[in-house]
Amino acid sequence: MSKSNPFHAWQLLILKYKPATILQKLEELLQDDGGMFKDDPAFFEFRELSLQFRISLLLEWKRYGEALAWLCLVTEINPQNLEALAMKEQLKKQLSFSSEGNVVLVNKTANENIGNWGAVAGMRRIKAIIEKNIILPLKERETYKNFNVTIPKGLLLYGPPGCGKTFIVKRLALLLGFHFIEVSPSTVASTYVHGTQEKIKGLFDEANKKRPCLLFFDELEGFVPNRNRNDLSFHYQSEVNEFLVRLNDAHQNGVFVVGATNQLKLIDDAIKRPGRFDMKLFVGPPDLEARIDAFKTCLKKRPHKISNWLYLGEETEYYTFSEINFIVEQASREVAQKKKAVIDLNDIMKVVLNTPPENDEHTLQSYS
Ligand SMILES: Nc1ncnc2c1ncn2[C@@H]1O[C@H](COP(=O)(O)OP(=O)(O)O)[C@@H](O)[C@H]1O
Ligand SMILES: [Mg+2]
Repeated sequence: MSKSNPFHAWQLLILKYKPATILQKLEELLQDDGGMFKDDPAFFEFRELSLQFRISLLLEWKRYGEALAWLCLVTEINPQNLEALAMKEQLKKQLSFSSEGNVVLVNKTANENIGNWGAVAGMRRIKAIIEKNIILPLKERETYKNFNVTIPKGLLLYGPPGCGKTFIVKRLALLLGFHFIEVSPSTVASTYVHGTQEKIKGLFDEANKKRPCLLFFDELEGFVPNRNRNDLSFHYQSEVNEFLVRLNDAHQNGVFVVGATNQLKLIDDAIKRPGRFDMKLFVGPPDLEARIDAFKTCLKKRPHKISNWLYLGEETEYYTFSEINFIVEQASREVAQKKKAVIDLNDIMKVVLNTPPENDEHTLQSYS
């Protein structure tokens, strides 16, 4: 992600400022047609997601009443704003209100978890896209039906390994409050053994019994490989057809299907066409906030005197979670060997410079 990108600027604001300033700066960012970002195509998307960004921050800060007030304002000014309507309904269901005289009190009920992505750090763009396009339509079906907006049939996450695809899907199931069934080719059948068609059918049947259910196909390319690949037998035609039929039924039956793959190119084209997996989302290496979180998590239980997290985050673009893990472990080993008491920024940076990341701009492009 380019450093002069509005999503990057947004993360910097969140990392650098206090809540009141963050919201004020968001306002400045959005006004004046984006100011410094007005020629950046990403700005349009940023603006489209800005409602999600604002509300999720307010919820993160437990400022529930303000979140609801903002949604009321948006729907008052624009009654056609579907996502604001849906978010408002969701929030109203999860808060409880009381009034004493002229005073309205807002209480959060303990068991609900709107917008709570748990340990999934950073990645605000991906979270907002999923909230807007998947979670809200699935949780507020009626509202979306009234506006004649179709609910997506499935979600396909793709990108390099170790960047959080599986992690995100598991949390999505929790956020939806759905049952969760996870399958991968290795747990279902050997990829090259015929009979997967029956297995696919069985999986969808099982999901049907547990609805509402999120049915997750990890390594989707193993189930529905590209028929144009000449190393495969013709058998896969039936697997792909079975999958398409079932995907369509699942959608109508309260089963939401998610696929993940490191190799989008190996998935049959019919599966990727619009109307099948309606949403395809690239999950790349952790963004700035996620990298900082990863360093903090890895260093939490080790003696260290690192305070310049922002620097560490900025210097480690493209590193995945496991690479960050490795860096911290390696630095700890070296510090222990030198019999030093604590890990400092130099120790970490030395390992960073000696360990180039597996991904870069070039390799990432090859995933699309
Ligand atoms: N956004 C995130 N925040 C914190 N940790 C993450 C995040 N995404 C991934 N991780 C960590 O990285 C590990 C690998 O992610 P995973 O979902 O298995 O990658 P993928 O499925 O893309 O190969 C996870 O188990 C988790 O510990
Ligand atoms: Mg995975």
